[in-house]
Order: sequence, then structure tokens, then C-alpha cells
Amino acid sequence: MNREQLLFKNRRPGETVFLAGYRATGGYQSLQQALRDLTPEALRQRVKDSNLRGRGGAGFPTGVKWNFFPADQPGPKYLVCNCDEMEPGTYKDGELLLADPHQLVEGMILSAFALQTDIGYIFIRYAYAQQAENLRRAIVEATEAGFLGQNILGSGFNFELHLHSSAGRYILGEETALLNGLEGKRPNPRLKPPFPAVKGLFGRPTTVNNVETLANIQHIVSGGAEWFRALALTEEGSGTKLYGLSGHLNRTECFELPVGMPLRQLIEEFGAGVWRGRKFKACLPGGASTPYLTAEHLDVALDFDSLEAVGSRFGTAGVTVFDDRTCMVAATLNLIRFFARESCGWCTPCRDGLTMVRWLLETIETGQGTPEHLEMLKDQLQQISGNSFCALAEGAMGPVAGLLTHFEQEIIDHLEKGRCPFQ
Ligand SMILES: Cc1cc2nc3c(=O)[nH]c(=O)nc-3n(C[C@H](O)[C@H](O)[C@H](O)COP(=O)(O)O)c2cc1C
Repeated sequence: MNREQLLFKNRRPGETVFLAGYRATGGYQSLQQALRDLTPEALRQRVKDSNLRGRGGAGFPTGVKWNFFPADQPGPKYLVCNCDEMEPGTYKDGELLLADPHQLVEGMILSAFALQTDIGYIFIRYAYAQQAENLRRAIVEATEAGFLGQNILGSGFNFELHLHSSAGRYILGEETALLNGLEGKRPNPRLKPPFPAVKGLFGRPTTVNNVETLANIQHIVSGGAEWFRALALTEEGSGTKLYGLSGHLNRTECFELPVGMPLRQLIEEFGAGVWRGRKFKACLPGGASTPYLTAEHLDVALDFDSLEAVGSRFGTAGVTVFDDRTCMVAATLNLIRFFARESCGWCTPCRDGLTMVRWLLETIETGQGTPEHLEMLKDQLQQISGNSFCALAEGAMGPVAGLLTHFEQEIIDHLEKGRCPFQ
């Protein structure tokens, strides 16, 4: 297996690489190359051909999204980087910015050139204070070196980049809530359509992309679309991915590995196996909003299509592992407590539905459940899925769907014993 390091190539434990170090390994050469050799259309086409899919969770093809963007429309247009990253089990963007903040800055300048936007914002969660500090310094360095600002490298292209530190809530990661937050409004999601590409920040065309998505752009420029696609281990995949390991593993770190990694290899080789000599029971493959996988899925390839085929999602590739002593009802309750608390309250299925699901799981976990509660849980899954205003509630129900599909017997054991069988 190739272990090509693109995004983590400058990563050293406890160190941050700034301009000199970044340039020493080829940093900003893609920018020079693109401004010299590529038109914005050619760059957009290259990204489309690379089959890069959004790394923020939904996996939407970046090139397709960029083609919806009216790059030729006069007037203000914006590029926004989503660095909210508050989903439990997802910490890859934070790791990237701790190690190498210029990766994002160069990626954003290139993306802005492709989209012909001249203003960009990085929306960063409040808790990422060190990452924000790193970005602040990187922006100053890039401006002083002539990579940001007016007439970049004499090309006539202008781009200014601003850092916006948010108050920090999970809903702010939803792209339209993020835009409201950036405008200083209450971060409720907006109705789509119109999509941000048509009417986004301050009512103007806007593209919102994830940190890791944007950081990939310079590598697609320098290596080419075909090379990028071939980095993946599966036909359907492309590129590398930052896999953030957490949970009951001997090693919980973030690794850059090809898209399409077999789950078993990720756990055994990179996670150094399940901790305390215990057995693998389940995992969330792509952050807290993805349905569980079980031991029968250990040979699945971690890419968007393969995970959808087994009823889950690649999401953010934040892989959280649970050992065989875990109560899956308790684990799901723990996740639902987070999601119910983070609901912005804008729509009923999310505000009231998640509260109801939390209550049902609490009732079952504390041994007070009856078969009726199990039926009500199934009913809530039907009622909430596809009926909420944004994808928060849908995502929140991912682990609940996994619980009902793979661990219904565990729920029944709680009902029959009148207590949690794992306590
Ligand atoms: C509740 C919720 C939280 C989200 N949080 C994030 C986040 O922290 N970072 C992120 O990039 N995308 C997040 N997303 C997805 C964004 O709405 C959007 O799809 C993404 O930023 C697009 O970038 P991409 O195409 O590069 O992946 C979230 C979505 C929802 C519904």
C-alpha cells in the first residue's frame, strides 16, 4: 500500500510548520504553477476530473459543486472554509491546522482563483485557539510574501482572507447556519434552494468547503487529476483521507491513508488493535452521525460508495471503535444527548424528536423500558428521518438506525432484565 503523505507531509509531533518550512517542501509552487499555466476553468475541470469528494461529511463532488458557482458573475462572491468541526469523534481538521496551516491558506487561494472570488473567510470553532493562532500567523506570512492581497504574484488576481472565530456550536457546521453565524445572526439553517452558490453570504454567491477538501487542491494542481484518483485503493475512491481514530483502541491518532482502506487493517495496523485484549464490537466509521458497523463489516473498504452499500456513511472518517464490553444502548444514548443538546430548535422533528429519542433511550437504559418503548423508538426513526429542516436530526438518527439494525437484541435484553445487562 502506498503511504503517500500530502496533507500530513510536514507533520512532526508537537511542531507547527510555518512559511519557511512549508516552502522548503514545495509549498506555494502549485499556486505559482496555477497562476502561470491554468485558467480558472481549467483548474475547475482538473478538480472535477480528480473526483475529489467533500471531506466535511456529505461527500459531495467538489468539482461538481464548483461548476454550480457563477464564477463569471460580476460583484462580490465569497469562498468560506468550514472549520467548525464539533462532531464527536472528528478532529482531523484541527490536527491539520496544528501541523501545517499554510496547507489550508494555499488551498484557499487556489480555490478562490478557480471560483474567481476575491474574499474568503475561515470560520473556525472557538475551542481551536491554537489553530486560529497558527492561521493568523500563516495569513500574515502569506500576505507579506505576496501570496495574498492585491495582484498576487503579478497575475492580476486579488484575494483577501479573513479568520472568523465562532462562539462554537455544532449547528454552525451546517453550511447555511454557518453563513447566518458569519453574518452575525442567530445560526438557524436556511431554506435550500436557493443554495449558497446562488444566494449565500450577504445574499451573494458563496461556496462553503471543508478544511481538508480545500487543502487537497494544491496537490491536485501539482500531481494532476489522474494521479490523485490513483492514490485511492478502490476504483470509486480518490485521493488520501485523514482518518481520525478514537475509542477503545490501543492507539488513537489521526493518520493520512488512502481512501478505500479496509476497516480491519485500519484498526489492527494503525489503531494497534482493540485495547485491553478485548474484541471488536462495533464502530462509527465517519463521525458520530453515521450508522454503526459491526464485526461482519471488518473487510469493508472505507470509501463513500462501499460504506453506503452496507448501510452506513464515510462521513468525516472519524472512526470510533467500541469493544465487546460496551453497552450499545448506553453508547447511543451518549451520542443522542449531544445531538439533542445541539439542536438549534428551529424545526419540530429535531427539537422535539431528538428529545423524545433521548428520553426513550434513557428509559430503556435505566431498566424501565417496555416493548412499547422499543416500538416508539422505531416510530421516531421513521418520523424524524427525511423530515427535518437540515441534516442535523437525520445525522443524529444514524447511530439509532444502526442500533435498531444491528443491536435490537441488546435493547430487548434491557427490557427483559429490567436493567442494563452490561452493568
Ligand atoms: C449539523 C451539521 C454539522 C456539520 N458540521 C460540519 C463541520 O464541522 N465541518 C464541515 O466541513 N462540514 C460540516 N457539515 C457539512 C456542511 O454543511 C457542508 O456540507 C460542508 O462544509 C461542505 O464542504 P465539503 O463539500 O468540502 O465537504 C455539517 C453539516 C451538518 C448538517
